[in-house]
Amino acid sequence: DTVEWDPEETGKSGYDHYMIKEIHEQPRALRQCLRERVDEMAGTVDLDDLGDLSPTGVQFVACGTSYHAALYGAHLFREAGIPAQAFLASEYATSVPPIGDALVIGVTQSGETADTLSALRAAEKRGARTLVVTNVVGSTAARECDHAFYIRAGPEIGVAASKTFSSQLAALNLLTLGMTQGDDTREVINALRELPGDLQRILDESSAEAVAELYQDAGAYFFIGRGLQFPVALEGALKMKEITYKHAEGFAAGELKHGPLALVTADTPVFAVVIGDDEKARKTVGNVKEVEARDAPVVAITDGQTDVHRYADHVLQIPETHPRAAAVLANAHLQLLSYHTAAKLGRNIDKPRNLAKSVTVE
Ligand code: AGP
Repeated sequence: DTVEWDPEETGKSGYDHYMIKEIHEQPRALRQCLRERVDEMAGTVDLDDLGDLSPTGVQFVACGTSYHAALYGAHLFREAGIPAQAFLASEYATSVPPIGDALVIGVTQSGETADTLSALRAAEKRGARTLVVTNVVGSTAARECDHAFYIRAGPEIGVAASKTFSSQLAALNLLTLGMTQGDDTREVINALRELPGDLQRILDESSAEAVAELYQDAGAYFFIGRGLQFPVALEGALKMKEITYKHAEGFAAGELKHGPLALVTADTPVFAVVIGDDEKARKTVGNVKEVEARDAPVVAITDGQTDVHRYADHVLQIPETHPRAAAVLANAHLQLLSYHTAAKLGRNIDKPRNLAKSVTVE
């Protein structure tokens, strides 16, 4: 499964950093991920040569950004009625859960992360079928797992994952659509088809840089989201930590009042991802009101379907689309926010201190 990426493209092509170049490559990376896998007319998805896996249960194992993608993936399987859970790979092997006939799915950009490889090996030892969702053809995980599904994002040089996260989310949509009988397959396919164009518009129009400018001196940054947008909150915070070295945390919106609310002050901007206008979204608006009442600056990343803007100091707008695609779009604003904050603080964006692109020790 090869991808047409020109070796010339491994340069920065006029961008200041690989990370911002890779953020801008996302629309194209998404198109590569979807190419020839989605039959729009028939409303079906073709999973390359994965065969008929039809899992009765799924366990995801992954680290870091890939773990956030795994949380999202587990949510999609559960929506399709299949029991699914995401585990931190480094914890999985400490107490391997009963696997039964579940499919164990590793999510790893590099395919070389030691913690993920060892979780997959632990599962395999117990007789599990394994599949890896990866970017690297011929990687250790691709070779060792029973099946590999490629995200086709092209090379990612920046230590902080950006385009590969979006492509992982797209690939996980394809996997669930291809393996399960979802009710809204057609809507998801339509949303995926529109995703590259929608994402391009966000990259062109986002006001995340202005927001970064305003809050670059904040004491800490908090990110909240619910359901499918919870992994987006976690990813927003991880990106902020990695490249700005500032304290950032992502919380399930409903957990705020169970402790983290004590940290919220006028010096801690809260970034709230609010998508749709269902009960979940309305509850998150309730959480936004709680932080606003504590004088925290609020930035809403929203499609504008609720009245969250009334409680927000700034809005990072996304178009109305399926919540699965909205997660990718909301995350793009947060990538830009972290990138521009780190740039203003003069950080070593492509090679943050203490971090490596691929962590090959446990
Ligand atoms: C992401 O920005 C990080 N560099 C890190 O969390 C990374 O996602 C993690 O180490 C897992 O890497 P993998 O996807 O290659 O397995």
